[in-house]
Amino acid sequence: MPASSLETIVSLCKRRGFVFPSSSVYGGLGSTWDYGPLGVELKNNVKRAWWRSVVHERDDMEGLDAAILMNRLVWKYSGHEATFSDPMTDCRACKARPRADHVFVAQKGRDPKGLVEINAAIAAKELSCPKCGSKDLTEARPFNLMFRTSVGPVDTGDESGLVYLRPETAQGMFVNFGNVLDTMRRKLPFGIAQVGKAFRNEITPGNFTFRTREFEQMEIEYFVRPGEDEAAHEMWIAERKKWYLDLGLRAENLRVREQEKHELAHYAKRCVDLEYLFPMGWSELEGIANRTDFDLKAHSRSPGNPDAVGELHYFDQEQKKHYVPYVIEPSAGADRGTLAFLCDAYEDSLVKEPAAEDTAKLRDLVENFARSVGRREGMDVDVKQRLQAAAETIAAGLPGTLPRLIGLMDDAEAGKIEVMKKVRGVGEKIAEEHTRTVLHLHPRLAPLTVAVFPLKRNEPRLVELARSIKRDLQRAGMRAVYDDTGAIGKLYRRQDEIGTPWCVTVDFQSLDDQTVTVRDRDTMQQERAPLAEIGPTLSARLR
Ligand code: GAP
Repeated sequence: MPASSLETIVSLCKRRGFVFPSSSVYGGLGSTWDYGPLGVELKNNVKRAWWRSVVHERDDMEGLDAAILMNRLVWKYSGHEATFSDPMTDCRACKARPRADHVFVAQKGRDPKGLVEINAAIAAKELSCPKCGSKDLTEARPFNLMFRTSVGPVDTGDESGLVYLRPETAQGMFVNFGNVLDTMRRKLPFGIAQVGKAFRNEITPGNFTFRTREFEQMEIEYFVRPGEDEAAHEMWIAERKKWYLDLGLRAENLRVREQEKHELAHYAKRCVDLEYLFPMGWSELEGIANRTDFDLKAHSRSPGNPDAVGELHYFDQEQKKHYVPYVIEPSAGADRGTLAFLCDAYEDSLVKEPAAEDTAKLRDLVENFARSVGRREGMDVDVKQRLQAAAETIAAGLPGTLPRLIGLMDDAEAGKIEVMKKVRGVGEKIAEEHTRTVLHLHPRLAPLTVAVFPLKRNEPRLVELARSIKRDLQRAGMRAVYDDTGAIGKLYRRQDEIGTPWCVTVDFQSLDDQTVTVRDRDTMQQERAPLAEIGPTLSARLR
């Protein structure tokens, strides 16, 4: 079963070095995260798998790595300066700041015709705050999501040095369309792929790495003849869905959703979202849009754009004419993809029942914790509700909910409640002894491919052989580690928890017959294999 709560994943990520809250020595910076030693391996593997699939394994794609800072005019003519904003309203009663267009759609059952209609409805007290129900809402104002900065050593106080941190990688590919076309002698259809950071001053970031202000995108701009765009769109929807499934995402957790008209970005004729069933519900993983000829036209010299130096069009040798290609854009998030793979791979279980009196003691403490949260004053209402609900569910389900309790014990907000110290004092030992957590990550995505252990760490011949096997596996291109810091059972459990697909154990028999034990994470089967075969066998399974 994939992870049932995001807290469980956040806790595992923090505990095992996948993702840490950013700037934590200064109290953090809301909704920003740092990928730790295992997280960076996992995310790099996701990006590498994507690049391999959309660039190296295709004949119609080229790669690009454009600058984050671009001429401001790019964002003027792409339409982002004028339209990349959300209309926000403030609730005077509870200080919530919901998106006004979302409130309108939810309460009126249809799309608003624009800001004017939204504000007329607010003035007529037809809309209410989705959090507290008050009709005392401020006039909705557009809030631009682009981060601003300035270039040059002197802040002139005007906008002459203004640049934006790019809110999507896409524009770097549009403005390089002519460069790639000419230098690589491409014919339609062909595409450009790019992986890189993007920045948005999101109003409601949250759900761990799902929505942040700094994130990474993996985007494709695929250029086709007008008229061939709809077939290319279908092709990419199928290709991108297959990529997630081939890397192990469960089919029942992935769905294709057609965006409704009111959801479409200003440039899109049609957009299909690939959605994943995250613990918080179905949410967007990737958008696959038909951007028509909007962007290439927007960056071409015309009466509407006197700043562009030329035209971004294509000369079709067969048809003997110039035209502007249409664009299909599969746009994925590297962080969201990584989070989805983590959630999907997660499995926890109770390996043995704790003693009844231990369970009863722990239940009392968790119930006590829930009551303390209820009494706590000055705590954010959402945090309070989340902690109380989690504690009540955990208490009712013990000992089956022990794995979920690990998440609650690691929750920073829960740690502010005094009783949590007592919960940890009892719970950590019981959880450690009675639960097993496994990440069933695809071997190509797993942060570590193989871990090598000597059966005894104080036996120099075993240690030496184990270290030399590890070195050989590293030379064969695998991420291999050596570990001798615990009993073999404990070492297996540690590797299961971070998703290492194979463990190799060197024992005394290895010294005589040059064979070792290879243990499979998913089946827990152990097989004896000749040393010489390990590298080639594991390499073949990674392909
Ligand atoms: N160029 C088109 C574009 O940027 P988008 O739907 O706004 O489209 C594409 O973004 C993908 O980027 C999303 O499907 C998501 O995976 C990722 N993404 C967008 N905003 C994000 C955010 N604030 N945090 C994390 N990922 C985000």
